[in-house]
Amino acid sequence: MNGFKEITPFSLTENPFKLIGKDWLLVTAEHNQQCNMMTASWGGVGILWNKPVAFTFIRPQRYTFGMLENSECCSLCVLDDSYRNVLTFCGTKSGRDVDKIRETALTLEHIDGVPYFAEAKIVMIVRKLYAQNMNADGVINTAVLKNYRPDGSDWHKMYINEIVKVLVKE
Ligand SMILES: Cc1cc2nc3c(=O)[nH]c(=O)nc-3n(C[C@H](O)[C@H](O)[C@H](O)COP(=O)(O)O)c2cc1C
Repeated sequence: MNGFKEITPFSLTENPFKLIGKDWLLVTAEHNQQCNMMTASWGGVGILWNKPVAFTFIRPQRYTFGMLENSECCSLCVLDDSYRNVLTFCGTKSGRDVDKIRETALTLEHIDGVPYFAEAKIVMIVRKLYAQNMNADGVINTAVLKNYRPDGSDWHKMYINEIVKVLVKE
């Protein structure tokens, strides 16, 4: 974790609405020595079961989805605005078709075996606690349905992840 210092989630002063919704997250996971990352801007942070948690919502079509399913931990990286093109690339290209790490030239590092990128300004190392497939049964306001195909094949899976480490750039 060269260049980073560890802080507790309670010391994070950045606005989570901005971090997730505007800066966007790079969700990075690894399985069988294959690493992939995708951009995510839907999610949240908070407290559940007395633990600091991060919520992510991932559609099953994502290549990253398989890696998340097969790994206990992943990282959520926040990069500054100079990486906007990288984030757009990682949010529009699939790791099935391109090697995103090579194409973006981001520097892959690991902490406790969990992949993250050295260019990040904030890294959250998270461990899955709970996951659930979302579906139309839970819908209270039908306005939500416009986000999903009529055949229901693209409903997100919600992951509730314990935040085990927060690293910030020194
Ligand atoms: C700004 C932005 C935010 C996104 N947020 C999410 C998200 O929260 N959940 C999701 O499943 N896909 C999200 N995506 C789409 C994935 O990042 C995109 O489909 C990506 O190409 C998947 O890559 P992969 O197939 O290598 O996993 C987002 C894309 C962009 C550009």
